[in-house]
Amino acid sequence: MIRICMVGTGYVGLVSGACMADFGHEVWCVDVNAQRIDGLRRGVIPFYEPGLDTLVLKNTGADRLKFTTSLAEGLAAAEVVFIAVQTPQSESGEADLSYVLQVGREIGQAMTGPKVIVTKSTVPVGTARHLEQIIREAQPRPVPFDMASNPEFLREGSSIEDFMRPDRVVIGADSENAASLVKEIYRPLYLLDTPILTCGIETAELIKYASNSYLAVKISFINEVAALAERVGGDVSAIAKAMGHDRRIGPKFLHAGLGFGGSCLPKDTHALVHIGQQAGVDMAIVRAAIARNELLPRAAFAKAAALLPAGGDTVALLGCAFKPNTDDVRAAASRPLTRLLLDAGLKVRVADPVALPMFRELFPETVPAASPYEAALGAHLCILVTEWNEYRQLDLARLGGVMAHRAFLDCRNVYDRQRMLSQGFAYDCFGRPAPRPA
Ligand SMILES: NC(=O)c1ccc[n+]([C@@H]2O[C@H](COP(=O)([O-])OP(=O)(O)OC[C@H]3O[C@@H](n4cnc5c(N)ncnc54)[C@H](O)[C@@H]3O)[C@@H](O)[C@H]2O)c1
Repeated sequence: MIRICMVGTGYVGLVSGACMADFGHEVWCVDVNAQRIDGLRRGVIPFYEPGLDTLVLKNTGADRLKFTTSLAEGLAAAEVVFIAVQTPQSESGEADLSYVLQVGREIGQAMTGPKVIVTKSTVPVGTARHLEQIIREAQPRPVPFDMASNPEFLREGSSIEDFMRPDRVVIGADSENAASLVKEIYRPLYLLDTPILTCGIETAELIKYASNSYLAVKISFINEVAALAERVGGDVSAIAKAMGHDRRIGPKFLHAGLGFGGSCLPKDTHALVHIGQQAGVDMAIVRAAIARNELLPRAAFAKAAALLPAGGDTVALLGCAFKPNTDDVRAAASRPLTRLLLDAGLKVRVADPVALPMFRELFPETVPAASPYEAALGAHLCILVTEWNEYRQLDLARLGGVMAHRAFLDCRNVYDRQRMLSQGFAYDCFGRPAPRPA
């Protein structure tokens, strides 16, 4: 059993803390958000993540998982301290490290015994070294510590499964002590033969950005092929399927549509471009992936405008979360698309199983709906934005029955064109143009 302090109880910190407690470790989770900590002590999970409530309750009940706003309390007995606070995109595109560095200063001031201090937040190359210096400078008297980097690869919506059954664990450390202590935390994963890769700190920091940027490139690549298919003919879904059968390529992240969003891929691609700029290396492939992605909301808007009948002024958005199974709307494609629709003077009705509260804070002028059918009431166009399971199996007759005009923009290529047409819908999607007449 290792005593752990997890700083930050967001998507990454809370899931990692709860999972590490479930591995049998003793975990203090610390957050500056007193309301969040108060709720967690009462078993209230601050965001939507399948299975997390049960896991937190189980481990708080077993006294392995505790919550505090006091870093000193969380640190007191900890052997390993994880920093899992946010690293949002700053105006210039680089990662905003102010939260991470602030935690570093606070740790330096509060620590009274030796620790291994680990960055779990996604941070640019060189951050752990910088942090080391900041912690040292903040210490009232010298206390020894080791630095490590343990980037997180979990995905919102399936984060517990991702944490418990990861494809790999990456541990960057300089000292054997730090590497072996962090490795020990993940010991239960040895049974699953999970690859645990140890490397230098800079390598670990770069692995995370390289991985996320590669995924973004893959998505943008298929979206570029989709744009081409729309001009020259061809079905991007069939193309992606055939490409995916090639094991060198693989089928994942090859779905054309509205592109990537969320709290990681957009900001991490921008951050890698910025890291490259500072180092004198043009990350041209990543820049191109960002540029392609940023075209997509406008492309969806153009398709929407083409589907709307003359005088049609009401649009129903089906889904606003950046992907299914999460309430996260950070950098979601729904946001620029909604902005374009509203600026064009359209009324926007929105349904989403869990993300509406977050979305409505950003767009109070949109009308919330309890179901896709309620959103479609009187609408002249439905736009499928987030492919929640329940939106994959819509009752099309019912949907069309409540609409003022039957038109459907399928931004996730879920529905079959022929089926939509047979139900009387005007239909469009991405990269699957109507077959040309023979
Ligand atoms: N969300 C994901 O899917 C995901 C996946 C992998 C990696 N990451 C990375 O993990 C990091 C965290 O992301 P997130 O989505 O969990 O962020 P988040 O915004 O959901 O959570 C961050 C938490 O840190 C807390 N915090 C901020 N400053 C603090 C301080 N000084 N002391 C204590 N708590 C503090 C905030 O109150 C908040 O609760 C980021 O670097 C992100 O890029 C995120």
